[in-house]
Amino acid sequence: MVNSLSPRIAPSILAADFANLGKEITAIDIAGADWVHIDVMDGHFVPNITIGPAVIKSLRHYTELPFDVHLMISPVDPMIEAFAEAGADTISVHPESGPNLHRTLQTIRNLKKRAGIVLNPATPINNIDQVIDIVDLILVMTVNPGFGGQKFISSQLNKIRSIRKIIDQHVSKGGASIDLEVDGGIDAKTSKLAIQAGADALVAGTAVFSGGPDCYAENINSLRGNSANYQ
Ligand code: DX5
Ligand code: ZN
Repeated sequence: MVNSLSPRIAPSILAADFANLGKEITAIDIAGADWVHIDVMDGHFVPNITIGPAVIKSLRHYTELPFDVHLMISPVDPMIEAFAEAGADTISVHPESGPNLHRTLQTIRNLKKRAGIVLNPATPINNIDQVIDIVDLILVMTVNPGFGGQKFISSQLNKIRSIRKIIDQHVSKGGASIDLEVDGGIDAKTSKLAIQAGADALVAGTAVFSGGPDCYAENINSLRGNSANYQ
């Protein structure tokens, strides 16, 4: 079953003007973003370094939109609490970023935050088997993590379709709903493919922030598609 609602759009501030992050966040809020996607990289788990909890805390004043925090750091466990305190709403982690994924997700939930699991292109779907009861979001990477502006890896569409089925079965058996988010190389064309495959939330950096603030509303709208028509 494909979600008939418009997908949530989560602009990745990795593609924003880092010298003006507060203003950029206000601009995407006004432009109709649903979540703010924040990519946290440590130069070790992925080959790039971005921002940490102090910056996220200072950005918290610029919007009431949920902060969708994607942690690409290892080991991840010692930093979870700091991101929760900084104002994250969803905290998503890669199975490879710590020794005990179930414990990491429990820690996020115990801090009253939404817990997400992130699957890299080479990470198998069965990583979600034993944790589906404690996740609020499954994030499928359609690029290898570390950089914005990469090409969408279309082999991941089958993974999105399979996870859509798993989530629908889970919900039909009485399980809580789980967001299916896709991250990497999303533009007006690939967003449609991801939605057709069953995604209900889309991360986009380059496609949202290109052209500057005057273009953000149009850029965001172009990613939504007419999801009700897709199968
Ligand atoms: C990659 C990040 C993505 C990235 C997406 O590691 O997780 O969120 O910023 O950027 P685009 O939309 O430019 O592919
Ligand atoms: Zn991301």
